[in-house]
Amino acid sequence: MNFCIYLIVFAFIQLETIKSEETIQDLKTKIDELKSKLEELEKSHKVYPKVKFFPLNDQKRILITGGAGFVGSHLVDRLMREGHRVTVADNFFTGTKSNIEHWIGHPNFELINHDIVNPLYIEVDEIYHLASPASPPHYMYNPIKTIKTNTIGTINMLGLARRVKARLLFTSTSEVYGDPEVHPQPETYWGNVNPIGPRACYDESKRVAEAMCYAYAKQERVQVRIARIFNTYGPRMNLNDGRVVSNFILQSLRNENITLYGDGSQTRSFQYIDDLVNGLVSLMNSNYTKPVNLGNPDEYTVHQLATIIRDMIGNRNEIIMKEKMEDDPQRRKPDITIAKEHLNWEPKVTLTDGIQRTVEYFRRELNKNKNNQHNGETSNMHNFYYLSANEEVEVKNKNYKIEL
Ligand SMILES: NC(=O)c1ccc[n+]([C@@H]2O[C@H](COP(=O)([O-])OP(=O)(O)OC[C@H]3O[C@@H](n4cnc5c(N)ncnc54)[C@H](O)[C@@H]3O)[C@@H](O)[C@H]2O)c1
Ligand SMILES: *[C@@H]1O[C@H](CO)[C@@H](O)[C@H](O)[C@H]1NC(C)=O
Ligand SMILES: *[C@@H]1O[C@H](CO)[C@@H](O)[C@H](O)[C@H]1NC(C)=O
Repeated sequence: MNFCIYLIVFAFIQLETIKSEETIQDLKTKIDELKSKLEELEKSHKVYPKVKFFPLNDQKRILITGGAGFVGSHLVDRLMREGHRVTVADNFFTGTKSNIEHWIGHPNFELINHDIVNPLYIEVDEIYHLASPASPPHYMYNPIKTIKTNTIGTINMLGLARRVKARLLFTSTSEVYGDPEVHPQPETYWGNVNPIGPRACYDESKRVAEAMCYAYAKQERVQVRIARIFNTYGPRMNLNDGRVVSNFILQSLRNENITLYGDGSQTRSFQYIDDLVNGLVSLMNSNYTKPVNLGNPDEYTVHQLATIIRDMIGNRNEIIMKEKMEDDPQRRKPDITIAKEHLNWEPKVTLTDGIQRTVEYFRRELNKNKNNQHNGETSNMHNFYYLSANEEVEVKNKNYKIEL
């Protein structure tokens, strides 16, 4: 930049001294060239989404572990827009830089390539602790690592919260209720979890992480918040996570028949990502310290969901029923009385609106892959397998059929 300006000034001085018409013409064209180069340079400056201005003292310093993932990246967007200073710590196991690339370089934003199984020493006011694989093929891929992330990783984050007196919000899961015998599930339900099944590495490590949070709260006076998140979907969700929403959208977009397991009468409830982000921020800022369910209680049968998605994408493929799967919970639905009462929160986005936005995202991503514009910018997981919705996933020599 400085060099270009220098050149222009230099050119003007030359203009003063050299009188020959031709030389002046020459120099003029050169100056024009330089001008357009300067303009180009200015254009290539990164433009960031708008953030609110905060006086430095009111800005919070916020750490988001797992901030390059699906939920984390939306939380980053929200807190950055509010004008806070956000640091993301992520090891890119399932998250990607592309989820947050629109913030990279912004003065309020920092990205650390860090595995939370190792301690992290930074100064922050709040910690949103999300880092953990979240869908079955991901958390079953390396069960020991899943356990380490949720146990050792959570201890590390609680230790950090204690040292710097930060408030910590832990994202737990509806899976702590296991295969529930109570319906819908209130926070007071203790759950029905198989401690040695294929999902135990996730369910049980999330449960012990909750226990750790309250041990630190009691013994060390750390301020903790626990969100028990139910099924969430939306843009940036993993295309190949094997869940019904992504399966059905992929199958429809690829013009394949939609397959569902069982007769399709099993119900599910789906929460749109924006609703979840509102809930997480409300919980962090509230004074309610017990676990809070965040999910959408509207129930749809899996068959209804398949129909909605197929009709929205607009093909006439068939919905094919396959044999029911073992361990497939019949129903899971949150009781959100506490969130309503204490956070004044409830989901707002309808299933059709949410699915519409998600389909648009899937369409864009599929085109990106087709045109091979991905530039190697994928998460570490992507290269390990590509799950077609009809396949069973091979996870370390064991076959698990996946449908959540
Ligand atoms: N999406 C859902 O429906 C849902 C439901 C219940 C709970 N949750 C919880 O919400 C959180 C976020 O889930 P998500 O859907 O965004 O999943 P995701 O896989 O998109 O994001 C998880 C992020 O954590 C990172 N990560 C994993 N292990 C790590 C480690 N050891 N160190 C640092 N980073 C690590 C991943 O790279 C990724 O960016 C998880 O804790 C998950 O258990 C999600
Ligand atoms: C969908 O299923 C029908 C009936 O089972 C079959 O005839 C058809 O070939 C399938 N279509 C695709 C695209 O697989
Ligand atoms: C939480 O408690 C603090 C201190 O008692 C109070 O200042 C604050 O307003 C409370 N916040 C909410 C959201 O109730």
